Amino acid sequence: MQVLGIESSCDETGVALVETQGNGLPRLRAHALHSQIAMHQAYGGVVPELASRDHIRRVLPLAEEVFARAGATAADVDVVAFTRGPGLAGALLVGAGVACALAMALDRPVLGVHHLEGHLLSPFLSADAPEFPFVALLVSGGHTQLMRVDGVGAYALLGETIDDAAGEAFDKSAKLLGLPYPGGPWLAKLAEGGNAEAFKLPRPLLHSGNLDFSFAGLKTAVLTQAKKLGGDLEARKADLAASTQAAIVEVLVKKSLAALDATGLHRIVVAGGVGANRLLRAQLDAACARRGVRVHYPKLHLCTDNGAMIAMAAAMRLQAGPQQAVRDYGFGVLPRWPLDATDGAALQA
Ligand code: KG4
Ligand code: ZN
Repeated sequence: MQVLGIESSCDETGVALVETQGNGLPRLRAHALHSQIAMHQAYGGVVPELASRDHIRRVLPLAEEVFARAGATAADVDVVAFTRGPGLAGALLVGAGVACALAMALDRPVLGVHHLEGHLLSPFLSADAPEFPFVALLVSGGHTQLMRVDGVGAYALLGETIDDAAGEAFDKSAKLLGLPYPGGPWLAKLAEGGNAEAFKLPRPLLHSGNLDFSFAGLKTAVLTQAKKLGGDLEARKADLAASTQAAIVEVLVKKSLAALDATGLHRIVVAGGVGANRLLRAQLDAACARRGVRVHYPKLHLCTDNGAMIAMAAAMRLQAGPQQAVRDYGFGVLPRWPLDATDGAALQA
């Protein structure tokens, strides 16, 4: 079975073709991606209306690119999957509209996929695929969650951020340091030349006794430090970046270890854009190696949003359960959609 996946929830348009293989893991045949980052950079953040319009321009040419790379045609597609939510409503509607129109024209069923389920299952696209059950640390621009994952569709929320997401903490701190959008990778780069112990920044909720996160206070602390430094900020920027990154990473690592303790599991999957962060990878790898815990990451270029993870999640869902794809082209989207509520909603894609 060939599954076409379309991602358009935020500022990346992604399309991919995945093929199921008996009971084995689905195989990625081809994927193509267009990032709108350069377009939004002038505004310091994503402009939703511009995002939607750009998705419209990109999605069909990207689909053609995917078919060309895979040596396939639209007629080979058995199911069309799309990101149903969460995300920007207008941006989601573009992917949903195109997916449903294509499926209707081809007389094929559609399947709406949860964006975070895509991130969560993206490590299955790497050579070192995980096995169920595992703990998942989902760290993106919009979400920070720890989940217990027992199988496809079996997700239990263990803890999440009560305010800003980890990616948001990176992005907002980076903005305060005058770095371009999205600031995460820029801040990480700047931090390489800095001293992580130069500034004492808060580790919010580190000892809260639960698995929730809070990052809003960190951004305020960075702002306070930046103001205090005044004219010296430029010279101390790398130190402040390194201290900020260290604070975010320490909280993510310690809470992940606490989630492993709480569940008794020995496997963790890291997914979402912040999963590309090198310090996070190094510290989590080291801590988990000491405890005999296996850590799985998506391929680096599949950490941030892409179509491959959406096609993969759809293919894994279709393999795991009864037919969930339907010939219903009413393309509803769910801009707000909790991941542990995917079951009922996915049935009415
Ligand atoms: O998963 P993603 O592409 O989009 C969402 O679904 O939100 O994540 C984007 C986020 C941004 O906040 C970006 O700054 C962050 O991931 N990010 C990073 C790195 N690469 C991307 N944060 C820290 N270090 C990185 N290397
Ligand atoms: Zn994402």
